[in-house]
Amino acid sequence: MSSIDLNATKSPHILVLGMGGTIAGLASEPKDKPLQYEAGQVGIGDLLAHIATAVPQGLSLLSRQVANINSRNLTEPLLSELGEVVRESLANPAVIGIVITHGTDTIEESGLFLQATCGKYAHDLGKRVILTGAMLPANALGADGPSNLLDAIRWASISIDNCPGGIFAVMAGRGCMAMDLAKRHGTALNAPIQSSPSSSVGLINPSWLSGVKAVQDSWVEDLPIPKGGEWPWVEILTSHAGARLETITHWLSSDVKGLVLAGSGMGGFHDAWKGPLDQAISQGVALVRTSRTGAGMTRTDIPEKDPDGCRAAGTLSAPRARIALQLALNAAKQAALVGKPLTWQDFFDRIADLPEIR
Ligand code: SIN
Repeated sequence: MSSIDLNATKSPHILVLGMGGTIAGLASEPKDKPLQYEAGQVGIGDLLAHIATAVPQGLSLLSRQVANINSRNLTEPLLSELGEVVRESLANPAVIGIVITHGTDTIEESGLFLQATCGKYAHDLGKRVILTGAMLPANALGADGPSNLLDAIRWASISIDNCPGGIFAVMAGRGCMAMDLAKRHGTALNAPIQSSPSSSVGLINPSWLSGVKAVQDSWVEDLPIPKGGEWPWVEILTSHAGARLETITHWLSSDVKGLVLAGSGMGGFHDAWKGPLDQAISQGVALVRTSRTGAGMTRTDIPEKDPDGCRAAGTLSAPRARIALQLALNAAKQAALVGKPLTWQDFFDRIADLPEIR
């Protein structure tokens, strides 16, 4: 196991991509203060060496360090790089599956991004891309990283008869579509998966699988990966008691291309925002409404009729809606270059309207 062994790349293997995170983190006082640590300290080769004896016999692993960061510092160019590496690796006939170790803080963004840009490709090829991470640093007592990594490697390598190709995530013994994984607790070991539909890793749940099929049947075309420096600028703004109109007017003289409004309840926003948001729309700023509650759907024209052009985010959380809007704005721009009359709303709706797995 090494960081890309070029002699072995022609034989079938699982490719393990390291992005950093707590799974690669180290605490300076692991016994007394395991939660005081630095993420992204251990190389992916060392994480794999640690679990080498438990990897199923006969399974070859290769690794590549794409980054080693705390995922709160994830950048758009790095997302583009990850997407390109995943697409290239999927195209390699020797790669039978891909595992990505990632920080859990923004795994939600990467999961949605990979589904929207590589989900159809992975599914058509019958290959799985599995995101995983950890809540405890690598040197903490009872660190959860090694078992998550092993589960992800096993999930990536199981037969296509048991699980189709696609973009998945595995944490704390459970697997789900990566676009359904989100961190919903600051510290719990199962924090990143709690509120999402999932299946036990040991016994894949048939009713969950039929939900996966419904999503994959609806996802008919991957969106282009924006070039590193070409991601449209999109901000998330949260409505709250005492919200001020300046929160919106601040952006009207900027180059911002889109605003995701994390509204209260069903996704409504403070009346103070109405006037400046109308102005933002008239200036061509794309608007998406979601809810700050962390669960449930944001529906079109509920609680009030949407301003023209504003889109409801369906089940997308604010961080996911932001990535979806960026990809939709970029896709519309690319479509216009080849004379296709498709709007950002056309592309955004494809993501927001995906069936919900129950
Ligand atoms: C990170 O997201 O890089 C740190 C937190 C984590 O991985 O759990």
